[in-house]
Amino acid sequence: MAVTAVSAPSVSPYSKFSSAENGVLSGQRLAFASSVGHVGRKSTVVKTVSLASISADRVPDMGKRKLMNLLLLGALSLPTAGLLGPYLNFFVPPGSGSAGSGVVAKDAVGNDITAVGWLKTHPPGDRTLSQGLKGDPTYLVVENDGTLATYGINAVCTHLGCVVPWNKAENKFICPCHGSQYNNQGQVVRGPAPLSLALAHVDVVDENVVFTPWLETDFRTGENPWWA
Ligand code: FES
Repeated sequence: MAVTAVSAPSVSPYSKFSSAENGVLSGQRLAFASSVGHVGRKSTVVKTVSLASISADRVPDMGKRKLMNLLLLGALSLPTAGLLGPYLNFFVPPGSGSAGSGVVAKDAVGNDITAVGWLKTHPPGDRTLSQGLKGDPTYLVVENDGTLATYGINAVCTHLGCVVPWNKAENKFICPCHGSQYNNQGQVVRGPAPLSLALAHVDVVDENVVFTPWLETDFRTGENPWWA
């Protein structure tokens, strides 16, 4: 028995792809015809694909586009600047707005300290923390004659950096972390702290108490300042 080969019609699915009627992307419709072959039978399925497009008269002109871009830029810039300001400010060392190279001492709530106000509330022999250079906790010292000492004592322990409290009963600064002790001027008298507490100059400028860096010989030891 003779066998007759029957082949399906060779029709590319894209062979009847036709373009839109009204030019490039403006006709909105493309006819897509595909053929499906069957032995002895052929059927054609026509699909219509609609393409979303924007007609030329709906595209904003260049002036409007520039205006919209500017508005978008402004809307993005304002919140970005608001976030960037505090971030950059973090890297600026405190002390801006101070007298000369010094900084005005601040009390526990951040107010400027005046010499008169401080001495009214702090008796002779007092050592109370204030905010000093670079924001370090720094003791203001009231001398026994009731005047403000010309030096402040940085309260950061030279061992591992704990803030050292003043112990009035012992007349010493005693570190709670590992027991280092400093005399009433901040000179180390017992380890493990290897060095005395750092010093800062204290002056009164326009009634405010002002700290400036201490770069001269340490009067307690007669040595160069290790912190300078
Ligand atoms: S941090 Fe002060 S003694 Fe260790």
